[in-house]
Amino acid sequence: MTKIGILGTGYVGLVTGVCLADLGLNVICIDRDEKKIQELLKGKMPIYEPGLEELVLKNYKEGRLSFTIKLSEIINELEVLFIAVGTPADRDGMPNLVYIEQVIDELKSILTKDMILVIKSTVPVGTNANIDIELKKSISYKCHLVSNPEFLREGYAIQDFMYPSRIVIGTKSAPAYEVMLKVYNHFAKHDVPIIYTTPETAELSKYASNSFLATKIAFINEMANLCDQLNANVDEVAHIMGLDDRIGSKFLQAGPGFGGSCFPKDIMALDTMSQKLGLNNYIIESVIKSNDIRKKFLASKIIDIALNKKIACLGLTFKAGTDDIRDSSAIEIVNELLLNNLELNLYDPEGMENAKQVINNRNVFWAENMEQAIEDVEVIIILTEWQEFKMINFKSLINARIKPIIIDLRNLLNQGEILSLGFEYYGVGK
Ligand code: UGA
Repeated sequence: MTKIGILGTGYVGLVTGVCLADLGLNVICIDRDEKKIQELLKGKMPIYEPGLEELVLKNYKEGRLSFTIKLSEIINELEVLFIAVGTPADRDGMPNLVYIEQVIDELKSILTKDMILVIKSTVPVGTNANIDIELKKSISYKCHLVSNPEFLREGYAIQDFMYPSRIVIGTKSAPAYEVMLKVYNHFAKHDVPIIYTTPETAELSKYASNSFLATKIAFINEMANLCDQLNANVDEVAHIMGLDDRIGSKFLQAGPGFGGSCFPKDIMALDTMSQKLGLNNYIIESVIKSNDIRKKFLASKIIDIALNKKIACLGLTFKAGTDDIRDSSAIEIVNELLLNNLELNLYDPEGMENAKQVINNRNVFWAENMEQAIEDVEVIIILTEWQEFKMINFKSLINARIKPIIIDLRNLLNQGEILSLGFEYYGVGK
């Protein structure tokens, strides 16, 4: 049976590893972070991702999934090695490839047979080709390079892996393509489109996809600003637009701007790549600008409404369903409010620990739950669309000593109901 190694146990690596194991493949996940591997062996996940823990435990117990810190000890058992290490943004806007380079250097000294090397990490266009040249120069074994970008969303990663919209296999090696078809056989059988293309096209398709989705969000956020001025409702505008299947209804939810570890980084990289080629990508430049300005713009609107008032901020992660606060619009807005000396009760269902690492201010009270966060406040701000926040008992708040103003930056709550109960309500673009 094909034995698969997955290097890097972050979102992409761990989810890919456990899902392939669940499909019946023999998978070993490798991470040089010993603590992380020890915890995984004890069943403790390094990230919050719905369904992940159960799936890891199941596949580990059933013997299809294992973990190690030493690539050198297992490399020769593998037929395919996926590389899913981080590529964080560098100062020049491009991804930093140092972790990938370290893996390639290690491979040069430990490989003793041919290998299929699959790059899952998001890398600039041309990276696969460069690795190919580098390996050909340094080793006599054949390394078949495959670019296989991932399209998983945090919070839905397992579902997205198991029911993908497409699988992209970018390679110049026909034998590697055949092996990848075996790896993804389950999906081929279920009629998932499997695209066989060049590494360059595969690499660019990832940047193009994320940047296009980010563009949709920036666009609807600009529409929300117009709706605010023109007395229109952005949720309804988005609904009407989305019914046209040339437009599509997804990623048209207006809010505080996109964040996370992918969109801001990838759109910046695409812009830098274009500039390096002497091309101006005017659309991408505008999206970056629009999303940057958005957080300050919304913070200043909040300050106009909430200055000198006691405030609860609900939601700190970059979206619901994750504990990830990287490039979170919620955190940026909270920081803007703190700069203006506002007093804030902060609460997030999963992101508290991570948020405490980046917010340290004496005007902050870290609430233990939503009820504690909103007790006796004059303003409630919804920053992340956690479903839990829909459970706020507005009927009981009517009788509270203070009737809070509601600022709903995710258009999560039922505006009609809240207004009918006599609260002052501000959504986004409605
Ligand atoms: C994104 C892509 O959706 C995945 O396909 C891709 O694989 C992943 O990046 C990646 O490159 O690894 P993710 O970062 O998990 O996934 O989050 P999204 O669900 O795409 O949301 C990104 C941001 O856009 C969040 O801040 C979210 O709140 C915001 N958003 C999303 C909106 O403001 N409105 C929307 O309608 C949708």
